[in-house]
Order: sequence, then C-alpha cells, then structure tokens
Amino acid sequence: MSVSIKSEREIELMREAGRILAHVHGELGKILKPGISTMDIDRIGERLIRSFGCIPSFKNYNGYPASICVSVNNEVVHGIPNKHRILREGDIVSLDAGVIYNGYHSDAARTHAIGQISGEAQKLIRVTRECFFEGIKYAKAGNHLNDISSAIQAYAESFGYGVVRDLVGHGVGKALHEDPEVPNFAQKRKGIRLRPGMTLAIEPMINMGRADVVWLNDDWTVVTDDGSLSAHYENTILITEGDPEILSLL
Ligand code: MF3
Ligand code: CO
Repeated sequence: MSVSIKSEREIELMREAGRILAHVHGELGKILKPGISTMDIDRIGERLIRSFGCIPSFKNYNGYPASICVSVNNEVVHGIPNKHRILREGDIVSLDAGVIYNGYHSDAARTHAIGQISGEAQKLIRVTRECFFEGIKYAKAGNHLNDISSAIQAYAESFGYGVVRDLVGHGVGKALHEDPEVPNFAQKRKGIRLRPGMTLAIEPMINMGRADVVWLNDDWTVVTDDGSLSAHYENTILITEGDPEILSLL
C-alpha cells in the first residue's frame, strides 16, 4: 500500500476540483422534485460538470454507464440512472458524483428528500451527514485512520442504524480510488498514521435497518438486504497540520 502526499500545486488543483463538485451538488439539489427521472439528473449533472471544463470521473469507470450515481430509498449506492425511474414525493435520493479537473479527482455524495418525507427518513439523512462530521473530528495529522472509522461506526450505531461494511471510503487524487481504504467501521489495526497532504474521500453509507447489502442483477446497484432506507454522505478532504480542509463543500 502506498499513500500519496500531495504537493501544494496538487492541492490547489484538488481544491478547484472540490469547489466545482460542491457547486455541481448545490445545483443538482435545486432541480430535484417529484416527476423528475433519475436519467434527467444524470444528464443535467454531466452537462454541468463539463460546463466547468471537468470530466465526469464515473462515466465508463469499470463500465459504469453514467456520470452521476442516483440511488433511491433502499438503494445504497451506484444506482444506474434510468428514464423510467421517476422520483416521487416521499422518496429519498442519494447523488454521488466525481469530477476530474486538470488530472485531479474530487468525489462527493449527498442524500436529499423529495418533497415531504417521514421524520424517520429525515433523521437518517441528518445522522448520516453527522457521521461524516464525527469522523473528520479525528482527521488530524498524527491520528490513525481507525480513529475516523471507529468514530463513524459508534455514532451511527448509537441510533440503532446499520453501517455498511461491503463498501468503504478511499484515498483520492490522481485516481478516483487510491490507498488507503477508509472503512466506516472499526478495524482491528489502528491503520496508517495520517499526515499533512493526504487526501481522502470519507463516505458513510448508513442503513436504517441491518448493515447487510446485496447487489442487483445489473451488477452495480447496491441495495439493503432488509429493504430498509439507506443514506450516503461523502466529501473529499485534505489532512493538514491543523484542522482538515473539506474540499468538496463550499
Ligand atoms: N463514489 C464512488 C466511490 O466512492 C464511485 C462510484 S463507482 C462508479 O467509490 F463506477 F460509479 F464510478
Ligand atoms: Co468515493
């Protein structure tokens, strides 16, 4: 395993990749409403990404056919946009996107409500976001990776939620997926020591019910095994000498 330390020049490019992606998520959040198809979201998202001179990093990644992963309700991640999949009042939808700016990647995800949703679903979305912020409290030089992972798990489980084990966060930079893996649950080992210049995608995937997930026959869409709702929240962050910088948040 080799974890890259980004130079100041690389960090500047990743900041720009992050800023653009934050903006893309902001704009996508505004177009969501009952009646929109998951394909509409992908088309608008891809156009936005390209309008900033960026490349949508997911498109054709290992054969993934779209630019934005759109995952509805019990879908955890990697939902494939489809013109027949129409969002309805009461749905929750996770949007995951990545952009490449001058050779550098940013990766971020948000879960949104469509119209009025249940109080329980609102709480799941809120707690999943809070899981990320619990985790990055420990994203400091000198700490270990597992400090982040354990904090996320403890917070999610204190609400009785299931922390997805089969997918993890990751290093990010010249590639979408770099070392190290960033699990959202405690490991036996304390993991690498965090150093300034490391850039990580931290991405809790949290189920209202059990942690188990299964893959659909399309080979991409990951759904909860028990059919419960799932939420996802992700940002690309930079480890510094002090507090971490969240690159994909404005
Ligand atoms: N955001 C996802 C991740 O963090 C990447 C989606 S995989 C793709 O791993 F194939 F859809 F690109
Ligand atoms: Co990611």
